[in-house]
Amino acid sequence: FTAGQTDLPLVGKRVLITAGPTREQVDPVRYFTNYSSGKMGYAIARAAARMGADVTLVSGPTALEKPAGVRFVPVESTEEMFQAVMKEYQAMDLVIKSAAVADYTPRIKYEEKVKKNNGSWSVEMEKTTDILSVLGEKKEQQVLVGFAAETGDLERYALDKMKRKNLDMIVANNVIQEGAGFSADTNRVVIFKKDGSAKEYPLLSKDKVAEEVLLQAMELMHL
Ligand code: CTP
Ligand code: CA
Repeated sequence: FTAGQTDLPLVGKRVLITAGPTREQVDPVRYFTNYSSGKMGYAIARAAARMGADVTLVSGPTALEKPAGVRFVPVESTEEMFQAVMKEYQAMDLVIKSAAVADYTPRIKYEEKVKKNNGSWSVEMEKTTDILSVLGEKKEQQVLVGFAAETGDLERYALDKMKRKNLDMIVANNVIQEGAGFSADTNRVVIFKKDGSAKEYPLLSKDKVAEEVLLQAMELMHL
């Protein structure tokens, strides 16, 4: 796709995007989560809709307005996100997993509020389902795109995730660099593809990063 060919390069394509954090409840008044704002995923959903795609946005809890012209599926926990994503997966042409999924969830979810006492409280956590790994295992026609949020060796960790989760492309960002990360309106990413290519971008608005992510994914879709 090059500008001018058509303004709606994704017409007829079904695109599934996950965004935001997940929320893991421990009792009716408390939960574990992370700093994800959802801004990156929502920007991708808006951009895909502008390009004509049939967009489904599965979102954890965020403070953002739900994008116009997309099918919106709100979820809370990783388990709910997993169920929602699996229901949609088969029909999709492109799946972009920008959600910051909780890696652990409390082993016990108390039905009543846990009262404080004089001692400390240890919460035992168990691993959640790695949604993207399951999508990688079940991949058919879908182009599968993951994100990697890192604070260390970006390239090594991102390439490892792309391989391990059977992805076609991974968008890596260092979440503690200036102007990037969770609540910022800008991001600085490197996009790795399974053919070994790497493309490093300067600091850009999340809207611009969203367009680049879609343009790169469209190459993999042969558009
Ligand atoms: N992911 C997922 N399900 C999980 C954890 C992560 O689908 N339970 C997805 C994220 O949506 C993202 C990708 O996997 O697209 C990478 O997430 P990230 O947190 O960077 O990697 P992890 O594999 O969870 O490893 P770690 O957090 O230890 O770096
Ligand atoms: Ca993780």
